[in-house]
Amino acid sequence: MAKSQVSKSQVSMTVNGKAVDALVEPRTLLIHFLREQLNLTGPHIGCDTSHCGACTVDLDGKSVKSCTVFTVQANGADIRTIEGMAAADGTLHALQEGFREMHGLQCGFCTPGMIVRAWRLLQENQNPSEEEIRIGISGNLCRCTGYQNIVKAIQYAAAKMSGVPFQEAAE
Ligand code: FES
Ligand code: FES
Repeated sequence: MAKSQVSKSQVSMTVNGKAVDALVEPRTLLIHFLREQLNLTGPHIGCDTSHCGACTVDLDGKSVKSCTVFTVQANGADIRTIEGMAAADGTLHALQEGFREMHGLQCGFCTPGMIVRAWRLLQENQNPSEEEIRIGISGNLCRCTGYQNIVKAIQYAAAKMSGVPFQEAAE
């Protein structure tokens, strides 16, 4: 079939609180739709094979790797990406602040997916143990940090979101 003859499907969804309507080819992956049609380039493509988690977004209350979801499967969904994490006035989310304060990133490539994943983790468990954090982010790979400061950043955010002072555990 010639490219011009590929039929497109209508999709409607909510992305970072905004209603989105678009026409997409049935084969279009959600990560490509977000990056190329919606210009949301926070979610990254690190592997395209569902291993790295750089493409993680929140979809209807679950962390998903958007390189393994067809856009048509997200029809009707409520999606959040890293672009929807800060407040409307630009105030950073506690997780973003935590990553900055605790040096939870180096190159930053994994960070958007890592933060979106951590956000869901903290929705489900407001006071996770270190082990629960490490298990919770085990689908997101970071080749730079060694994870220690990512764990601290998530602990910082958990404390801030619960209104208690963050105290680093003794090493
Ligand atoms: S790009 Fe999706 S998991 Fe790596
Ligand atoms: S900060 Fe570089 S991959 Fe995580």
